[in-house]
Amino acid sequence: MALPNKPVGELKAVRDPEVVEKEVDILIVGGGMAACGTAFEMKKWAADKKILLVDKASLERSGAVAQGLSAINTYIGENSPDDYVRMVRNDLMGLVREDLIFDLGTHVDDSVHLFEEWGLPIWKKDEAGKTLDGKKGLKMGLLKAGAKPVRTGKWQIMINGESYKRIVAEAAKLALGDENILERVFIVELLMDKNEENRIAGAVGISVRENKVYIIKCNTMMVACGGAVNIYQPRSVGEGKGRAWYPVWNAGSTYYLCMRAGAELSMMENRFTPARFKDGYGPVGAWFLLFKAKTINGLGENYAGSDHAKAELQKYAPYGTAAITPTCLRNHLMLVELKEGRGPIIMDTVTALATIAATMDKKELKHLESEAWEDFLDMTCGQANLWCATNTEPEKKNSEVMPTEPYLLGSHSGCCGMWVSGPDYDWVPADYKWGDKGKIYNRMTTVKGLFTSGDGVGCSGHKFSSGSHAEGRMVAKSMARWVRDHAGYKPAIAQSAKELVDLAYKPVRTYLDHCAYTTAVDINPNYVKPAGMALRLMKATNEYGAGIATYYMTSEKSLEILFDLFGMLHEDLEKLAAGDLHELMRCWEIKHRLWTVEAHCRHIRFRKESRYPGFYYRADFPGQDDANWFKFTNSKYDTKTGQWECFKRDYHKIIPD
Ligand code: FAD
Ligand code: ADX
Repeated sequence: MALPNKPVGELKAVRDPEVVEKEVDILIVGGGMAACGTAFEMKKWAADKKILLVDKASLERSGAVAQGLSAINTYIGENSPDDYVRMVRNDLMGLVREDLIFDLGTHVDDSVHLFEEWGLPIWKKDEAGKTLDGKKGLKMGLLKAGAKPVRTGKWQIMINGESYKRIVAEAAKLALGDENILERVFIVELLMDKNEENRIAGAVGISVRENKVYIIKCNTMMVACGGAVNIYQPRSVGEGKGRAWYPVWNAGSTYYLCMRAGAELSMMENRFTPARFKDGYGPVGAWFLLFKAKTINGLGENYAGSDHAKAELQKYAPYGTAAITPTCLRNHLMLVELKEGRGPIIMDTVTALATIAATMDKKELKHLESEAWEDFLDMTCGQANLWCATNTEPEKKNSEVMPTEPYLLGSHSGCCGMWVSGPDYDWVPADYKWGDKGKIYNRMTTVKGLFTSGDGVGCSGHKFSSGSHAEGRMVAKSMARWVRDHAGYKPAIAQSAKELVDLAYKPVRTYLDHCAYTTAVDINPNYVKPAGMALRLMKATNEYGAGIATYYMTSEKSLEILFDLFGMLHEDLEKLAAGDLHELMRCWEIKHRLWTVEAHCRHIRFRKESRYPGFYYRADFPGQDDANWFKFTNSKYDTKTGQWECFKRDYHKIIPD
């Protein structure tokens, strides 16, 4: 149920919140694309079961699609799922779970067809090959009936997507029913079964609008809280601080919650360092693919086509020499230019628009210009604002492009996440699939009954919005089977309600115990506020963990220093203080972020090679070392001993080149 927006000012936290206890069969944590997919699909397969979805924000505008999008980046259409696997494999430098990617490739289009049915405008080509956007696209009929979308690249299609998330959320809400949705509740920890080893049993969360703690028991759970942002110092400072490419509310909860439950992580070293329009973080895809724009260096050269670049890419063959250069290597080429003094990197919007305009009449030209603006207005309005503020008309003035700070995610051009079971097909290798009592459950983590999707599934990037939704739907079927197969299960948790409230509200009590000691509530010898902790964390990772400060470079010595700093941050987590509910959420977010970025850096430390140049570099292990490292790197936190273990798992090639 949606709660109204806050009155003016933050809501004060009290020492003893109300406790709300619930027990459901199926718990969906998160309300983004993946979770909406699960919610939509679940009722079809488990209508008789009690289902609850919990979102930290408001479903209508939560997650990475909150601002809308201007393209659906995964639509298979006339292509084949095999080719989709090849594309993802190449972009992620060879190391991916082909079972998961193929499986997704065979389902994703169905979600896109649903989006169109629910009212999302999808651009179409008319008989003459001209573009029809907005509602005009419908003149050509539905995609499902064979209408041709406007392809930008081989996999992407254009949409008018400002209301994309609202449309998808509406379908999820209608399917599940408002009474089965809890909004503005932030899940802080997962709860394990006290009688059965390695078995999920529930979750505890805090309301960010009321002084309430929720304790929710369940038979099975899906965690899809997106990826992680603000774990590295962003490039924006001062009045632009808080700007980031990735939505600021995705604080690594997916990884934190699952790793703390003991789920195996995979490829956590992989990150996404997107190249974006500088300062406004406007995405580049439509400019490269739809408008066919080129990036040039500070000398005006098309550096990506130079012999220098070709020689650089050759070092990373066969990925570097493929028809489409992998995302990390496109960054790498930019970084080579910047480091060798030939920056800045410029997106030549002027030439691109002039070239297209040459084939157009005046009316079409006006439309093209508005499309260039709409690309940002649909998904990153801050970039359009910045263009206005800097008198930038893209047909007259070029814009700078820059690799941003790193983000962690598993559904965009990155692949960190959980090690999950693949589907139950005979061609899926035995070590890629598992379950319980002889049955296999697709997308289940290594914890019994705990599932994930979207940004949470490791080793299989390039799902994007459509693929995350489709994957959420696939998980719904697995979970529905799980509840039937475990119908007699009764969740039992070890902690009492009091212990869980003590845990969730610890920062509030720390604050109330000490806040009268000083006149300025933010400065106190007995506690730290989350804002200060966030700055400390980002300074540490930026300087030692391959952030922008070092052109994404790190080494064993730097990591040693970083882990020492992490140790101290952990000590200070115990002293976090929250005076209001927003701050309480911030305290938990910083904990989720710290554990997440620590797992990322632990994996970087373990993998002794530089597999993703342009995303990050190990100065002491430059280049790729296939002989030793063409393996998945996994890790696991032992919830009993508090120890970490990092290890390798075998890669299987399923789809031939
Ligand atoms: P999200 O959709 O991000 O959902 C995460 C959810 O978890 C949110 O509802 C959030 O409120 C909730 N949550 C977080 N923490 C908690 C917690 N502790 N407790 C409860 N709830 C929590 N894809 C395309 O197809 N085309 C594009 O053009 C495109 N552009 C993009 C542009 C940007 C700027 C970004 C960031 C992504 C873009 N993507 C695009 C990718 C797409 O948005 C993601 O792949 C997709 O949203 C991932 O789905 P998800 O469900 O895993 O995460
Ligand atoms: S967005 O999701 O935030 O819009 P982005 O703009 O990077 O992301 O990419 C959109 C799509 O275009 C993704 O599928 C990405 O892989 C692809 N893409 C972006 N730039 C290029 C490029 N230069 N060459 C090929 N594909 C690209």
